[in-house]
Formats: sequence, C-alpha cells, structure tokens
Amino acid sequence: MKLAFGAIALLLGTDFIWATKTQTKQNIWQVAVIGAGAGGSSTAYHLQQYAQQAGLNVNITVFEKSDRIGGRTLTINPYDDLSQRIELGASIFIEKNYILYNALKEFNLSKRAPDEDSSSVLGIWDGEQFVFSFNEDSSYWWNALKVIWKYGIMAPRRTENLMISTIDKFLRLYQEPYFPFRSLTQRAYELDLHKATGVTGEQWLKNHNIDDLYAHDIVQAATRVNYASNLGRIHGLDTMVSMAPAGAMAVEGGNWQIFDKMVQLSGAAVALNTSVTSLKYWRDEALAKYDLKTRSAGKNSNKTELYPVKFDSVIIASPWQFAGISADNDAIQTPIDTIPYVQLHVTIFASPFSYSPAFFGLKDAKDLPGTILTTLAKGEDHNSGSDGAGKAGFFSISILRKTVNPKTLQPEYIYKIFSPEKVTPEFLSRLFGLKVPDGIIDAPEDDKENVSPISWYYPHVFNSYPKALPRVTFQDPIVGPWLFYTSGMDSFISTMETNALMGKNVARLLVDSILALPNYALAGEEKQKILGRLDHDKEDVSKEMEDL
Ligand SMILES: Cc1cc2nc3c(=O)[nH]c(=O)nc-3n(C[C@H](O)[C@H](O)[C@H](O)COP(=O)(O)OP(=O)(O)OC[C@H]3O[C@@H](n4cnc5c(N)ncnc54)[C@H](O)[C@@H]3O)c2cc1C
Ligand SMILES: *[C@@H]1O[C@H](CO)[C@@H](O)[C@H](O)[C@H]1NC(C)=O
Ligand SMILES: *[C@@H]1O[C@H](CO)[C@@H](O)[C@H](O)[C@H]1NC(C)=O
Ligand SMILES: *[C@@H]1O[C@H](CO)[C@@H](O)[C@H](O)[C@H]1NC(C)=O
Ligand SMILES: *[C@@H]1O[C@H](CO)[C@@H](O)[C@H](O)[C@H]1NC(C)=O
Repeated sequence: MKLAFGAIALLLGTDFIWATKTQTKQNIWQVAVIGAGAGGSSTAYHLQQYAQQAGLNVNITVFEKSDRIGGRTLTINPYDDLSQRIELGASIFIEKNYILYNALKEFNLSKRAPDEDSSSVLGIWDGEQFVFSFNEDSSYWWNALKVIWKYGIMAPRRTENLMISTIDKFLRLYQEPYFPFRSLTQRAYELDLHKATGVTGEQWLKNHNIDDLYAHDIVQAATRVNYASNLGRIHGLDTMVSMAPAGAMAVEGGNWQIFDKMVQLSGAAVALNTSVTSLKYWRDEALAKYDLKTRSAGKNSNKTELYPVKFDSVIIASPWQFAGISADNDAIQTPIDTIPYVQLHVTIFASPFSYSPAFFGLKDAKDLPGTILTTLAKGEDHNSGSDGAGKAGFFSISILRKTVNPKTLQPEYIYKIFSPEKVTPEFLSRLFGLKVPDGIIDAPEDDKENVSPISWYYPHVFNSYPKALPRVTFQDPIVGPWLFYTSGMDSFISTMETNALMGKNVARLLVDSILALPNYALAGEEKQKILGRLDHDKEDVSKEMEDL
C-alpha cells in the first residue's frame, strides 16, 4: 500500500514538477490564486512568507469572483444595521485550529464567544419529543449526572477519548515529516486516519464500543448541526470533528477578517469582482505557463478578457465543480472529481416572539430550550438531504442573541435555522403559533393591523460542504504542471482551518519545488533540508537532483 502511494507521488513529481528545468532565478515567479476563501487567502499569505524566507521573488495575483474576501466565511447585518454583524457561514473555531488562532493573535483581532441564546438550555428534539437537554445554568456536574443517568458513564467517556486521540493524529499533519504533503490520501493512511474516513460515523462509534443510544441522540445531533448529515451518511473523521467544538470562539466583527488580513499581508494584487473563466496551459520551451481569461461582474458581464500576465503557477482554491472554469485537457492532468455537496438553507431572522411550545409537543413555554438540535425519531433511517432531516424537518434552530430592533427599539431575538429545504411561511406559523404572512415580512394589503411576527428575514442557500460519505482516497493538491488545488481537503474535513492548512501546504510545496529547480543554486544545507523534505514523499528526488 505504502509503495503504491510512493509510486503515485513519484509520478506526480516527475511529470508535473520536475519537468521544468530551465527556470532561472532572475525571473519573477508569477502566481495566480483563484478564489479568496480560507484556502486561497492562506495560500497567498504563506506563499509570501515562505518565498521571503527563501529569498524568492514571487508576484501573487488573487482573483475573486465576488466583491469580498472570505468565501464561505461571511457576515450579514441584521436589520441592515451596519453596527450589527452575524456569521452567515463558518461561525466558530477552536484553539487547536493553530493557523486561525495564531492569525487572530498576530493580526490583533479580538476573539469573542460564539453566539449563544439567553435561555442557555440546549435541547435535542427527534421530531416527536425532546430526547435530552443540557442546562448551562445548572452545574457541570448536574449535566454530567443527567448524561450518565440516561446513557451510562462509558459512552460519553469513550467518545471524548476517541475524539481526542483522532484529533491528535490529525494535528501531526502540521509538522514534519507529515507536512508538507503531496498526497492527502497517503497521509490519511500514514496517520491511520483512513480508518476513520473509511467508515460511517455509526460504524466508527460501534467499532469503539460506543453505545447506540448515545450515538443516535448526542453524536448525531452534532453531525446534523455541523454537517447536515446523519451518522450513517458521514464518515468517522467528520463525526469526531463535530464533537470537538468545546471552547469554541469567533472573531469580533466577523471571521472573514482573518482571511482579509492574510490577503493584505501577502502583498498580492487583488482582483475582486473578477471570475476566472478559463485556464489555458502551454509550454514555453520547458516552462509551464498559464493564460487566464477573466470576466468582471457588472456591466460587461458577458465579456471575457485575456489577463495580461502569463502565470508560472496557478492555485485553484474553490471547489472545482462550482468554479465555472474551462480548462484545456492538458492543464489538469489529474482529473478533479465532481463530488456531491450538501445544499444547505441557512435562514436568519428577527422576531420579538418565542417558539410555540405546542410545536414541540410541550405545554409550557418555560420548558423550551433556546437552542434546538435534532436527531432522527426512533426507526427513521439515515438518508441524506430532505429525507435525512427526518420527522423534525430541520437540522437545528437556535436563538443567536437578544437584540434591539433599531426601528421599533423593542427587544427581539435573532434566530438561525439550518434546513435541507427552504423555510416556508407555514412552517414559521407553526413554529411560532402565529400567522406568518405569505410574504413573511409583509402582511396582506387588507390586513394592516396584523403585523408579521417576523421583522427582518434573510434566507440563503449554500453549497455548504461535501456529503462526507466514507472514502479513503482524496483529491491530491498537485493536479497539473505547477498547478495546485486546495479543495480536496473539503472531503477530508471541511472547516476554515483545514482548508487554510491545505493552502499553507500548497504554498510550501510550491516554494520547495521552485527551490529544488537546478538553477536555483541554494546554499548546501538549506537545499539538503528541502530535498530531505521532498524525499519523504519521493525517494528518488535527491538522486534525480544529483543527476541534473
Ligand atoms: C453554513 C456553514 C457553516 C459552516 N460552519 C463552519 C464553522 O463553524 N467552522 C468552520 O471552521 N467551518 C465551517 N464551515 C465550513 C467552512 O466555511 C469552509 O470549509 C471554508 O470556509 C471553505 O473555504 P475555501 O476557501 O476552501 O472555499 P470557499 O470559502 O468556498 O472559497 C472559494 C472562493 O472562490 C471564489 N471563486 C469561485 N470560483 C471562482 C472563479 N472562477 N474565479 C474567481 N473566484 C472564484 C468564490 O467566490 C469564493 O470566495 C461552514 C460552512 C457553511 C456553508
Ligand atoms: C504582478 O502582478 C500584477 C497583477 O497581476 C501585475 O499587474 C504586475 O505587472 C506584476 N508585476 C510584475 C513585476 O510582474
Ligand atoms: C464589485 O461589484 C459590486 C456590484 O456590481 C460593486 O458595488 C462594487 O463596488 C464592486 N467592487 C469592486 C472592488 O470592484
Ligand atoms: C499588532 O500589534 C502589534 C503591537 O501593537 C504590532 O507590532 C503589529 O504590527 C500589529 N500587527 C498587525 C498585523 O497589525
Ligand atoms: C449575456 O448573455 C446572455 C445569454 O447569452 C444574454 O441573455 C444577456 O443579455 C447578456 N448580457 C449582457 C450584459 O450582454
């Protein structure tokens, strides 16, 4: 197995990187980064750092289709009030997300606690009844006792230990000899993580003797809120990641600022509102070169133009299937697989009202949790998509915060719903036990005295993350000659941090590959170090280098 991976890496190395032998040091290495989400921003930031350390001259251009940096990490302003911000996409990260956490500190950004509802009760609902609830006002011990009472002492303890040991294995990917990596497939295997990615969360927990009921109620609530998936439709590694958010935090003013700062500090030229539409590969003597065509948002939105710079390297930092780029066949030598993504509806809105207890089959509003996670009802099967939401019909509903409506100056709650389908006025009417008009905000013309219970409404649909079905092979980061791809990480673990790690990895691979070119005559020791690192993937590199 290991040999087979070695052979793949060898192939990639020989065909893609080592074919270019005449690059000279006088040249500026022109790099295009396509997409300014976590992956692309981190690529630009780390590329600048590594290049500077090595005395390389790189000129980075970041292309971004939208008018902002951050990709799936973005905020919106409730009530269109610019002084308030809410995370619409990626909302939290943890201290062990080293790239983000260090960036937070180095960039002088402030951290804040994740949004949290005022009732401080979290309930897990199966569409028929609440199967469990945690009350943060009660002591840690009281909640722990409740868990033990229902699920026993072993299931929570084993899950916690399994999560910690799995995450610890993953964290080795940050360090030599595991970093950098040309093959995520190979590293998953070396770090023994393929055992977690190769089975469903359900099997993974079973293999570790974790009680079914705990898996069904507690762990599945976590995989549903984090990845919109039931345990039978998500791999074991993402299941463990879903259980990891203890001590989670967010950036005051928006997580996107980390990526914005990364792009700024990279010194890259940034083309916002600019989609790359095609990628053409050609060779200038032995040199790989890329021509890009771009289209800018706005008036001439149908017109594509040839970008004036010829690029030595291109980094594709968006899921390929959503990037809308046509590539001539030679450019992408390792085909990038299309993978199914979850379509997730994220609906954020404001209302002065609380949920109706009747919706949840309760009599008394005082028993209602503010955050409601869901699981399947007894006997329901583990489909994905709308079927997978089960009787509950949604993945989670939470009160994010209490706020003041700037127009009415009345206190209101801000709610967030994750669901596989569009939220309807009928659903909202049942949820609140009040008539929500068809226009959601607007009451019918003839019904002026009936004000909608919802004062502000923001629905959004994401291609949020892959349906993380079990797999043991992953799209590797080198996809053509000097051509890299970061989004293979999405099917391994899709988070801001992991995609930023892939960006950092690609930056290291690129700089190492440039430095290893024969004409970049580095000092002996530095070169040996780099060759040693390449050697880890590619046994014959040093020999090949000596022959050159
Ligand atoms: C609702 C939701 C909640 C989440 N919650 C969390 C969370 O709490 N914590 C966490 O860590 N992660 C979370 N995630 C996952 C996280 O958002 C992603 O894993 C991560 O942000 C992906 O970053 P990326 O750079 O790889 O891709 P993206 O963020 O998708 O960035 C790709 C960028 O490329 C641009 N682009 C695409 N095509 C082109 C083109 N042709 N030319 C130019 N530009 C192009 C796009 O506009 C986009 O800006 C969540 C995701 C969603 C959707
Ligand atoms: C660097 O890239 C920018 C943006 O693509 C381009 O305008 C500029 O000419 C390049 N600079 C050099 C020195 O190549
Ligand atoms: C991007 O396009 C939007 C909408 O067309 C426009 O409002 C914005 O000013 C543009 N931004 C840049 C940086 O070109
Ligand atoms: C953060 O603050 C320190 C101390 O004030 C300063 O030296 C540093 O340049 C700042 N970093 C950034 C990225 O602004
Ligand atoms: C762009 O092309 C589409 C279809 O090809 C056409 O309907 C639309 O009018 C065009 N828009 C502009 C601004 O030319």
